Amino acid sequence: MTGKTLPQFDSTVVPGYLAGTERKVPGLADLHRMTMLLLNEQLPQAAEILVVGAGGGMELKAMAQAQSQWKFVGVDPSASMLDLAHRNTESFKNRITLIDGTVEAAPVHKYDGATCLLTLHFLERTERLHTLQQIRRRLRPGARLIAAHHSNPGGNVQSWLARSVAFSQHDGVNWQNALASADSMASGLPLLKVSQEQALFRQAGFVNVELFYAAFSFRGWVATADPA
Ligand SMILES: C[S@@+](CC[C@H](N)C(=O)[O-])C[C@H]1O[C@@H](n2cnc3c(N)ncnc32)[C@H](O)[C@@H]1O
Repeated sequence: MTGKTLPQFDSTVVPGYLAGTERKVPGLADLHRMTMLLLNEQLPQAAEILVVGAGGGMELKAMAQAQSQWKFVGVDPSASMLDLAHRNTESFKNRITLIDGTVEAAPVHKYDGATCLLTLHFLERTERLHTLQQIRRRLRPGARLIAAHHSNPGGNVQSWLARSVAFSQHDGVNWQNALASADSMASGLPLLKVSQEQALFRQAGFVNVELFYAAFSFRGWVATADPA
């Protein structure tokens, strides 16, 4: 099944996507490295990894560079973001299959691990649960999922989002602008509270849901496909 491209990921965002994401996400290179390490901890040397929301190819490139024996299947419903992923991962193309669509487009196969980075915050609760369930269905029991995205960390969510926006303003912080962007993010993104996020992972069939990354409004979890 081919999914619908979110308006945020039409062809207009692509030219600035890689540099913009590096600017916006605190410690992005380290987030990729932590993702790779959390998967690597319990994997055979040669592993197959499912990458959901693979557009741009940033995490694919980082993991392929670090792990020469891993193979990847990446899915993304945005043709332009997939095209960018193709270009960004050209050197590793013999180990990466990119598929146009949501997780349902990925072959049902027992992958050794999965990632879903900077993607779930765009999905309404029902679609998020469905996406997590479909990832779970494609993981071997005991395999790990690494997910990181904007969340509602508690307290004043607008303030946390504004801090994230301000972080991206490397040439001088404009709080008025950051607060305005935070307001539109808070009304436009279906953010979940941390406790709701954890409950959703469990509802989708994951256990041992543990936080490994927290930066302003971003949170990252490692979860294990229920071996039962
Ligand atoms: C902010 S980008 C993140 C891309 C990449 N994971 C990264 O970390 O740079 C979000 C991506 O999620 C994709 N996306 C939107 N809805 C999706 C869905 N239902 N399933 C999978 N990917 C989706 C978008 O097309 C976009 O490429």
